[in-house]
Amino acid sequence: MPRHAYITTPIYYVNAEPHLGSTYTTVVADALARFYRQRGISTTFQTGTDEHGEKIAESAREAGVSPREFVDEVAAKFRSTWDSCGIQYDHFVRTSDPRHVEFVRGVLARLHAQDDIYFGSYEGLYCVGCERLYTEKELKDGLCPDHLTKPSEVSEPNYFFRMAKYQDAVRGHIEKNPGFIHPEGYRNETLAMLREDLGDLCISRPKERLSWGIELPFDAGYVTYVWFDALLNYASGPAAQGRFEEVWPATLHLIGKDILKPHAVFWPTMLLAAGYPLYERLGVGGFWSSGGHKMSKSLGNVVKPLELRDRYGMDALRYFLLRDMAFGQDADFTEEALIVRLNADLANGLGNLVSRTLAMSAKYFGSRVQARLPATDEDAALATAFAEARVELDRQIENLAFHRGLEAVWRAIDAANKYVADQAPFKLARDETQRPRVGAILHNCIESLRVAAQLVAPFLPDSADRIREALGLPADRFANLDLPWGEAFADEHLLGPSINLFPRV
Ligand code: MSP
Repeated sequence: MPRHAYITTPIYYVNAEPHLGSTYTTVVADALARFYRQRGISTTFQTGTDEHGEKIAESAREAGVSPREFVDEVAAKFRSTWDSCGIQYDHFVRTSDPRHVEFVRGVLARLHAQDDIYFGSYEGLYCVGCERLYTEKELKDGLCPDHLTKPSEVSEPNYFFRMAKYQDAVRGHIEKNPGFIHPEGYRNETLAMLREDLGDLCISRPKERLSWGIELPFDAGYVTYVWFDALLNYASGPAAQGRFEEVWPATLHLIGKDILKPHAVFWPTMLLAAGYPLYERLGVGGFWSSGGHKMSKSLGNVVKPLELRDRYGMDALRYFLLRDMAFGQDADFTEEALIVRLNADLANGLGNLVSRTLAMSAKYFGSRVQARLPATDEDAALATAFAEARVELDRQIENLAFHRGLEAVWRAIDAANKYVADQAPFKLARDETQRPRVGAILHNCIESLRVAAQLVAPFLPDSADRIREALGLPADRFANLDLPWGEAFADEHLLGPSINLFPRV
């Protein structure tokens, strides 16, 4: 476990509204941040918006408003979307914020003064969609592999950052630190890039071509290349709050695989040049397709996160995203698959355990928790199943294997449902002499619910809270992950009435 967790999402371009891709990365970051906070680790979670560059200037022009008005409106939309999805970020960074602008200018001035930035000529093929230069080799039939558009040929005097100077140092760092880029496939991809001659990085755009950007501190005729500006958000955010020393280096930058090169090559190089410690880990996620196809407006298969939330609830969406994608690999989104998960794992699994436990407690004991009695082998096995789930969850989450972590928790939840079926308190209850045993069985079920809710809380925060409330547990007691099994509830503790946590769809 880290000493301090500083977790970031990419900052999202404001030329599109939040979609499944941005929602996924944000949900992953939010779940991790909650996971660390729950384990008592001081945590900072930053997200935000990427607001400069040609792409944004173009979108503003199309919308018929100034870039300023445009970015303010879309950035607010991102913020309100994350707020209404219950995303608990600590800081929302915006690259058009004057504090970020000053930070970037400070770094540029320093690099220029130490001769890591020089004036030269920029020639190549540029894709506006990607905001980057392509080599012939990287193109697919002469087109940008991501946008399938023809990049434009550009040639102009510009400023360059001496990236080549740091290339060996970055490669050495990645070779020495196997966990620096996760999963391993992306580490290998990065090392392959770093074995090629990458050259220096053009970091400016002449103002006559693009004015929407951060002006270079040493030449007012130019603005900063948007990636050079954007990557610095990870440092400028904490700096703007006077927390840089406390927070840096970042524990984990979460990104999608399409932005590997800027994060795995440009960013460590920039950090080395600027004299900052390198971030600890880059977590590279795969891509969601929709119904087997790349999501696109023209195919009409763009998934809207808020619509899903309204239809199925945010927790069901979070669960699906985390459970159905192995982090780092691609996955396909369909509403049918989400419904299958919802019904099987949430309604029949966790939801069923909640409703039957509370319903039987109400029916047999007026919702009063009964004494546990000395544990039978089956009782002990149930407690062990949850203890093991916790260990396995922690192990898998450290590996960013969210799907495996949740699977481990659900093994315990399934064990609890099986325990109810095997122990059959509903049958025993017909025999008056078995009443104490029925009470003990239900006590173990209630403990299962308590621990299950604690374990799922970072991933399904609303549901965990509803279970906590139904159990009548105060929040501070619920926050204690180390409460021993059997000691959370006093005899005669009053539970709430049964709830239907996840109605079947
Ligand atoms: N602004 C840059 C990031 C700068 S970070 C210093 C950017 N923005 S983006 O809005 O285009 O993309 C943000 C993230 O969403 C990227 O990590 C990208 O990989 C991710 N996704 C976009 N579509 C996606 C899917 N369909 N599936 C999963 N993630 C995808 O890039």
